[in-house]
Amino acid sequence: METQTLSADDIEKGAAIIKAGGLVAFPTETVYGLGADATNLSAVMKIFDVKGRPAQNPLIVHFESLDDLFVRIPEIDSHTKNVLLKIKEALTVVIKRPKWIPAMVSAGLDTVAVRVPSCEFARSFIKTCGTPLAAPSANTSGRPSSTRWQQVYVDLKGKIDAVFSCEPTRIGVESTVIKVLEDRIAVLRLGGISTAQLNKATGLQVVVAQAGHEIKASPGTQFKHYAPTCRMVVAKYGQDMTQRIQEYIKGKKATVIFWQGNAADYSPNVVYLGKNFQEIAHNFYSAIRAAEWGSEVIVCEGFPETAEYETLNERAARAAEGNLI
Ligand code: TXA
Ligand code: MG
Repeated sequence: METQTLSADDIEKGAAIIKAGGLVAFPTETVYGLGADATNLSAVMKIFDVKGRPAQNPLIVHFESLDDLFVRIPEIDSHTKNVLLKIKEALTVVIKRPKWIPAMVSAGLDTVAVRVPSCEFARSFIKTCGTPLAAPSANTSGRPSSTRWQQVYVDLKGKIDAVFSCEPTRIGVESTVIKVLEDRIAVLRLGGISTAQLNKATGLQVVVAQAGHEIKASPGTQFKHYAPTCRMVVAKYGQDMTQRIQEYIKGKKATVIFWQGNAADYSPNVVYLGKNFQEIAHNFYSAIRAAEWGSEVIVCEGFPETAEYETLNERAARAAEGNLI
């Protein structure tokens, strides 16, 4: 199939493709999503096919607004509602799955992950579609998420009906997936909203799901993820990080993605990430995709072990499959 590139003015065209059961990639505030009508089984099945996504990994259903979500799922509990009213971006909540959402969307679970993007374009697109959209990140399973439409195009061209050629996504890492319990919030996947932000906005205690604990992490966190086409290692953050990296890259075709040191420390093959969490998150996946070209190994400068950097530490560790230097 030929993949059309749609401009931001082509919302009606994109919506017509969705209504006909097709797949359209669209931007959100976090990363690009690969949308399908969440109520159309064969469209949802195509998402799994095209991405090579394990059938056990459930999808997030996207709604145009909180009002629309509350009308379509009136039984949503008040604790979850309260949190949704306080945090308006990069957040996904896991709730009991209503019958009208096909079990396949949730990989057979009796829960479903739902999210209202803050991105205006995403919201008007979903509204024009007239149906909630099941949408995973718009990348082949296992690869880094796409934060630019060109990455979606290169990754999925010939397999999806269309991609909107909009701006790069603002936040750059995926939404935080949570389950709201009576007295606390369980984080099932770290993301763009930090645990500290969740706590501050809601006053609730926040716990992060861990292997072996009663609260289970999202199924997607078990699978290989964010992987470059070459090997990757993370240099543990600390005083001698620059020297360790310099030692490690000697004689290797290595590219260093960095934020602390100077380009000159690692030249010539370097990609700069940015100076703070916002900038680094915004650039992170693009940096991996840029650095993998022609490299035998990517070395990523590590981040401080602070709450602010927890999502980036997790993403970097998983992209590197736990390889540390
Ligand atoms: O920012 C985002 O969340 C992006 C944009 C497009 O919205 N979407 C995204 O979707 O990252 P995906 O499919 O790449 O990741 C969804 C994550 C997976 O880890 C999945 O296991 C988890 O959400 N998830 C989905 N439904 C769940 C459920 N019912 N219970 C627990 N985790 C769930
Ligand atoms: Mg994904």
